[in-house]
Amino acid sequence: MVQPEEQARLYRPRPELLPAAHVPSLADYRRLYRRSVEKPQEFWGDVAKEFYWKQQQQPWVPFLWYNFDATKGRIFIEWMKGAKTNVCYNLLDRNVGEKKLGDKVAFYWEGNEPGDSMKITYGELLRKVCQFANVLHNHGVKKGDRISIYLPMILELVIAMLACARIGAIHSVVFAGFSADSLCERILDCGCSLLITADAFYRGDKLVNLKQIADEALQKSKDKGFPLKKCIVVKHLGREEIAADEEIAADGACSQSPPLKRLCQDVQIPWDPHMDVWWQDLMSGASTECEPEWCDSEDELFILYTSGSTGKPKGVLHTVGGYMLYAATSFKYVFDYQPEDIYWCTADIGWITGHSYITYGPLANGATSVLFEGIPTYPDAGRMWSIIDKYKVTKFYTAPTAIRLLMKYGEELVKKHSRKSLKVLGTVGEPINPEAWLWYYRVVGEERCPIVDTFWQTETGGHMLTPLPAATPMKPGSATFPFFGVVPAIVNESGEELEGEAEGYLVFKQPWPGIMRTLYGNHQQFETTYFKKFPGYYVTGDGCRRDKDGYYWITGRIDDMLNVSGHLLSTAEVESALLGHAAVSEAAVVSHPHPLKGECLYCFVTLKDGHEFTKDLADELKKQVREKIGPIATPDYIQNAPSLPKTRSGKITRRILRKIAQNDRDLGDISTLVNPGIINQLFNNRCDTKL
Ligand code: WTA
Repeated sequence: MVQPEEQARLYRPRPELLPAAHVPSLADYRRLYRRSVEKPQEFWGDVAKEFYWKQQQQPWVPFLWYNFDATKGRIFIEWMKGAKTNVCYNLLDRNVGEKKLGDKVAFYWEGNEPGDSMKITYGELLRKVCQFANVLHNHGVKKGDRISIYLPMILELVIAMLACARIGAIHSVVFAGFSADSLCERILDCGCSLLITADAFYRGDKLVNLKQIADEALQKSKDKGFPLKKCIVVKHLGREEIAADEEIAADGACSQSPPLKRLCQDVQIPWDPHMDVWWQDLMSGASTECEPEWCDSEDELFILYTSGSTGKPKGVLHTVGGYMLYAATSFKYVFDYQPEDIYWCTADIGWITGHSYITYGPLANGATSVLFEGIPTYPDAGRMWSIIDKYKVTKFYTAPTAIRLLMKYGEELVKKHSRKSLKVLGTVGEPINPEAWLWYYRVVGEERCPIVDTFWQTETGGHMLTPLPAATPMKPGSATFPFFGVVPAIVNESGEELEGEAEGYLVFKQPWPGIMRTLYGNHQQFETTYFKKFPGYYVTGDGCRRDKDGYYWITGRIDDMLNVSGHLLSTAEVESALLGHAAVSEAAVVSHPHPLKGECLYCFVTLKDGHEFTKDLADELKKQVREKIGPIATPDYIQNAPSLPKTRSGKITRRILRKIAQNDRDLGDISTLVNPGIINQLFNNRCDTKL
């Protein structure tokens, strides 16, 4: 147990970091922060000068132009409208040319199987991106077209994203752990013209036949009247070029022990010669030069889907200029980036963390990163620490759920590895519990490395609340203070701003460059979801407390969303997957505490007449959710509910269901229920052990 005095202690940055730090003290942070929020044009204007602009803004167009108040008209945000640039040019050409980083490693790729690795320099990355941009051109892809990318954590994923950015096409990356239904839904929503996927890959010792899932999604999309014409397939599992550590490659064959599974598996990849084409075949003939498309600062850069409380995923849209400035700046300051750093973010690029802090932020800074295909526990739970030692990682960014998982395996496994290269540790995705924070701090970082607990969202594009490594005294579990340009407030239910120590809804008062601009194809939903509840503010959907020292503490979601292992899911999404089963007449899903995942899904289902609740049925329902959404959404508990507690207006009272799931009989006021009699029965039916 964490002692209260340990938790209340301030953990100060260590002096070693200070000499080179971008922000060496709290006073420096405050000074820069004040300028960033009082004079955004000056602050971000200076940042913009470090980038290449093909055309500057016309002097009469405002640098920042926006409306955050839905009662005064349409919500809009524009940063540097009229200025022209290209994100890919800034990430690659500028670094290779002006900054002379052509030979610097952009990514060390570490495969699922130890010993399977590659590296790519900035120069090589630029050439490959140009080649693939030409491939896209050859397939008729134009500025503004949407391209869906469904790939594992391989270099081609970064190449495909940047190739889209280069020609002004809008990428929509879909996490490779999502199901065919989820992929199909995203293909239809953005109306993409092309899908990029891979043959297959391993996650730990589990084979994922990605092409087969992609094909199912394409078939479903066709059945719904939206046939795609082309599917570009990266030959990954069946790669011909052997990409292994030099010692292994020198010995030659992949039949060597241990065999590289990626290279040796005999997996059947479904193939339609009219539709499918190998990435490698297209690349081999393509030119390594490609003029970038000069885009407006407010042109679309990408769409990334995130769970929506209606159950349908929302296509969060980010634009060129603001996102680039924000991802680059937050990466530089929050990780206190230094040119000799080896940076590793363990997130998947299928999530926003991978977009901003694997692809865009690090490359904009000319950083060297590790890109890891595998999982933390394969071949054993020391993998993370062994990768840190292998590449001498200096800045390491992961999720609380991974930390809790690795804690379970004990300190010995960590201490077997040196980790002495580490300088800064980061976390993202959910509130980190003080036990996990202290373990990360003491055991992993040996009290030498500050922890940046970064609070942000797909919608915010980059960090919002976060310590800066050399400036901010930390409190375990607090995301501390706002990043540059961010003005947080805590409001109560009536929308009144609370001062000093307070708890309520976390909102933001003015735009920062990385804020989303709309939900793709649904601006109205964008306005309702984020701006309607409290006019004049961007509403995060998170609860938050500010302590007497002004530190912010995220208390968790306050809408119908839940956070499983750092991944947001909406209860409605899971309910609709359950309702898709023939035996289910009603379903209600609530969040339930889980020691590793943070939260998990506890589902109440009411069956149709003639169906009996059995373990087999519960398993089938779990499978159903898994197939509809993906493995991350697999419920931990399914409980039989003869009926659900409801208010007079027919609304299911999830507050009570949450208490039932936790066996907490302190239910508060239940006088609004039409059927209070059901409650005892639901307590009796609880799943004490997982079904
Ligand atoms: C939660 C992930 C507490 C929060 C970048 C937010 C956090 C949601 C933190 C966004 C943190 C993320 N402390 N909670 N450091 N980071 N969250 O869109 O509930 O996948 O609203 O973006 O994750 O999740 P998303």
